[in-house]
Parts: sequence; structure tokens; C-alpha cells
Amino acid sequence: MTTDLGKAAALLKAVQHVTVLTGAGVSKESGIPTFREAQTGLWAEYDPEKLASPHGFLKDPALVWRWYDGRRQKISQVSPNQGHYALVELEKFVERLTLVTQNVDGLHALAGSTRVVELHGNISRVKCFDNNHPATNVPLGLSEPPLCSCGSLLRPDVVWFGEALSPSNLAEAMEASRTSNLMLIIGTSGLVHPAASLPYLAKQHGAKIIEVNPNESALTEIADLFLKGPSAQILPGILSLMNESVSKKQPKGARE
Ligand code: OAD
Repeated sequence: MTTDLGKAAALLKAVQHVTVLTGAGVSKESGIPTFREAQTGLWAEYDPEKLASPHGFLKDPALVWRWYDGRRQKISQVSPNQGHYALVELEKFVERLTLVTQNVDGLHALAGSTRVVELHGNISRVKCFDNNHPATNVPLGLSEPPLCSCGSLLRPDVVWFGEALSPSNLAEAMEASRTSNLMLIIGTSGLVHPAASLPYLAKQHGAKIIEVNPNESALTEIADLFLKGPSAQILPGILSLMNESVSKKQPKGARE
């Protein structure tokens, strides 16, 4: 009897181009909280209007700076988990894998994924508020934002509510979604657009959709296969089946 993990492994082995869309859930086993889970989600405890919007920043730059500084410090101490590593391994089974993430923690690249589109930016980078000038060597632990050489306040290089995504990143994510044979959606509530529109685009263009999440999301209704569970368990499970079927194909006694 084929299990759902087996079905996912077979689907993934049959396609050439996979687009992966990840959200906060993929980093949960690394110790980074998600945003919208009751009790434990960041937005259950903090107000996104104050902390993740341009007007919130201008109202109290020091408060916003310190909140992101705390997150940067935490993220600098964590490591990728087995889910991130399984996505790196998946690259060897498909001709093209585009990993589109809403996460700003940089853990996919740190794990070794090679084609990562960071739709919402990266918390380790800093830029200036007025002109987007990048800033380097900004130390952790400052209690307020330093100034750019142009005089503007520095801020984290992440996309805040009410801000546009980088047009080139969005174009790359859309092109990948349109042209892939399969989209793997992992650990996102599917509530924040335009990221949450990408699976619809993929589906419209004929891609199969596999979702991995311990809970149903706004995207579950369009999934062809829903794998219920934490990604740090489900993804390595799929990869181990994919590896098994490769070794089964080797005839007995085969030599290198
Ligand atoms: P959410 O917090 O909205 O959703 C997290 C999802 O992860 C939920 O569907 C959980 O069920 C799921 N989840 C929890 N534990 C998991 C696990 N171990 N394995 C897999 N999935 C798990 O986070 P996002 O969908 O990423 O934007 O949120 C999207 C955007 O909203 C974020 O990028 C952020 C936020 O405001 C910005 O910062 C711009």
C-alpha cells in the first residue's frame, strides 16, 4: 500500500521543475516562533502595526530597531533543521528547484539551498529608510538605529506591511510558479499576499500541489496532497523514500 509520503516521493521523482514555497513553520524546529499561531505566534504577543510597518517605525524608531535587534540576535544563534536540509537534498532529484521563502531568517541559504528567492527580505541585512542604501557591519545590541551616510535612519531590510516586494524577486517567484510541474508548500498559513497567490498561479498552469503543515491552511483546499505534520519530520521522510527507490533500482551486485 502506498502511503501519502510514498505518493509525494513518487510525484517529486516524476517531475523536472519544482517550486517550493516556505513560511515560518519550516523554521519552527530551529526554535524560531511563527507569526499567527495562537499563544506562541509573534503577532499574538506583538502588534504588527507598531513593529512591522513604515509608520510604526517613524513613530518609534528605537522600539522597532530594538525588537528586530532581539530577533537578529536570536536568529544568529540558531541552525537549520532537518526540514531545511531535506530541501537541499531535493535539489539532486530535479532539474530545477526554485525555493521561494517568506522567511527572513536566511536558514535555507545557510543549509545550502542554491536558488533561494527571499520574498520578504533578510533580517541580517540593514538599509536606510529614505534611499534603500545598504549598510554593512552594523553591530548587534544597539539601542537605536544608527544613521546612514545620507542622514537617513537605518532599518532592517525586510518587507513591512504596506510595502512593495522587490519587483525582481516577485517576477522570479512568479515565473517559477508558472513554469513548474509541482509546487511544494511548507509551513505557511497562506494569508499574506502576494506570496499566497503563487500556489494559485502554479495550479492554474497545471502544477500539482503538495502541502506540508501540521494544520490546515488557507491553501489546503487547492492541494492535491496534504501531508499533516511538522516539516522537520515529513520532509526527511519523503527524501528517505526517494533515496530508497534510487538504491532499489540498482541491480544486485552492481558495481560503480
Ligand atoms: P504564519 O505564522 O502565518 O503561519 C505559520 C504556519 O506554519 C501555520 O500554518 C502553522 O500551522 C505552520 N506550522 C507550525 N509548525 C510547523 C511545523 N513544525 N512544520 C511546518 N509547518 C508548521 O507564518 P507565514 O505564513 O510564514 O511577513 O506568514 C507569512 C508572513 O506573515 C511572514 O513572512 C511575515 C508575517 O507577517 C513579514 O514579516 C513581511
